[in-house]
Amino acid sequence: MFTLRPARETDRAALYRICLETGASGQDATHLYADPLILGHVYAGPYLTYAPEFAFVLEQAGGEVAGYVLGVPDTAAFEATLDREWWPPLRELYPDPAGIPHAERTPDQRIAHLIHHPPRAPQDLLSVYPAHLHIDLLPDAQGGGRGRALMTTLLDALREAGVAGVHLGVGEGNTRAQGFYRHLGFQELGRAPGSVTFGLPLT
Ligand code: ACO
Repeated sequence: MFTLRPARETDRAALYRICLETGASGQDATHLYADPLILGHVYAGPYLTYAPEFAFVLEQAGGEVAGYVLGVPDTAAFEATLDREWWPPLRELYPDPAGIPHAERTPDQRIAHLIHHPPRAPQDLLSVYPAHLHIDLLPDAQGGGRGRALMTTLLDALREAGVAGVHLGVGEGNTRAQGFYRHLGFQELGRAPGSVTFGLPLT
């Protein structure tokens, strides 16, 4: 019923949609964002553009894409590429809300702030876990071993590329995904307000 395959450029719109439909700590975030593309610009689009060999999707029988895992082997290089190529045109589209206090920003403005001020993964994290990933399945695809299958496929690809370790950030309220990562062997590395960082050595 579901096929796992490498992502293609023609999957881009589906990746953006799934990103939005799982974007509120794993739940549908469609009602939260005025711009339906803004989340995908940060968490989906650049992965397909700059690391397509580490992007995999689940395709349903009718050809619909129902989930993805997106990774990059070298987070520091990815961040540098985004600074050069990905963020500048998006900064033209979305104004910087820096003048608006954080608590007063809309969800769109919080993402626009990330576009203008992207956070940097700390060097001590990257020295052990240089890769990072995002994984999202639509509700009908969840809970049947497909998250594990997507993750195994990406982790194998990262290992084959000689990557030493992978990290990820997950919303503090997304306890289901946290349980999934722990079950797959990820260790909690730290907490920041609103998010938890996990890591997994690959060698
Ligand atoms: N606690 C403990 N074990 C768990 C949990 C949990 N909360 N969830 C799953 N597991 C176990 C399963 O029992 C299964 O065990 P087994 O393989 O040993 O039998 C294993 O983990 C794999 O479970 P799957 O069925 O493959 O999990 P699923 O397909 O639901 O994928 C995922 C998990 C990716 C979290 C999916 O539910 C999802 O996409 N949720 C919505 C979006 C989301 O929250 N994404 C994460 C955002 S954070 C980020 O991307 C870095």
